[in-house]
Amino acid sequence: MKNAKIAEKIIPQSADMPNSIKFCFVILFLLCPLPALSTQWPEIKLLKIPKYELPVAVQVTIAKDPVYKTRKKYLAYPLDEFLGLLKPPKQIGPEELLVIFTAEDGYQSFMSYSDAISESGYIAFKDVAASAKNHWQPFKFGAKMTTPEPYYLVWPNPELDKWLFPWPFKLTRISFEPAVDFFAAALPKTDQKPVQQGFELFTQYCIRCHSVNNVGGKIGPEILVSDPRNKYLVEFILDAPSFIKDTKMPSFKDRLETKNALAILAYLKYIHSK
Ligand code: HEC
Repeated sequence: MKNAKIAEKIIPQSADMPNSIKFCFVILFLLCPLPALSTQWPEIKLLKIPKYELPVAVQVTIAKDPVYKTRKKYLAYPLDEFLGLLKPPKQIGPEELLVIFTAEDGYQSFMSYSDAISESGYIAFKDVAASAKNHWQPFKFGAKMTTPEPYYLVWPNPELDKWLFPWPFKLTRISFEPAVDFFAAALPKTDQKPVQQGFELFTQYCIRCHSVNNVGGKIGPEILVSDPRNKYLVEFILDAPSFIKDTKMPSFKDRLETKNALAILAYLKYIHSK
């Protein structure tokens, strides 16, 4: 952040500076250690927040929790308070900024900052129905039992689309990053319609589990579309659970049509041909 402020001050003045001085600034800028730029976006490691900095906890009721598939009550901190602690970078518009939620196992979900502040989200830390000793009740994830420990993002408004308002569990980190940076390596450099549509769908529904060029989550494998004869790929994408028992990959039958799955494949083929 500091760098950006200094740059704002320097650049307007440099307009009436001799070229040699401008050149010095350019050299200075180039000498700055570049890796620092990629880590400058604000982040919060939830387990490292000192107790006295934690917001006041409230109790929230979730009419139908998508993980437990039932009514739930949690003790939770308002998401807004964490976003306030993080301080959104002012130079980026709320639409272009992503809030990224990273779980212990590498699962990354994200949402636009403008969505995040438009609704009340809560970072839950205890299931009210769990025993005094345990903070959480177990649920089945893939073939195994697990719990949302240590943190779980929940949204009491039942109307919200769970793909725009994600419910990541085992949450350990919240960070900000401009969407263009976050998706840079996955961005297709073409205006072909299906490829562009496929990219949008892939970032909305798939990238939280599958990475492309190392962008995204690691719950699912990097998708290789190398074998064009793989004729079940479309059916698989639409309804993985009908192919693999206990898969962590959800069914998309209710959200995607064949033409959407084809667009995703067009995007993946494009990316892998580069
Ligand atoms: C919640 C995580 C999750 C999401 C979201 C998800 N997947 Fe998967 N996917 C997996 C896992 C895990 C596997 C590995 C299958 C298994 O063993 O269960 C997989 C496997 C696959 C495979 C087969 C892998 C291969 O190359 O052999 C394809 C293709 C695939 N996913 C495509 C998609 C697409 C396209 C989307 C988005 C529409 C998507 N997945 C969303 C978790 C996910």
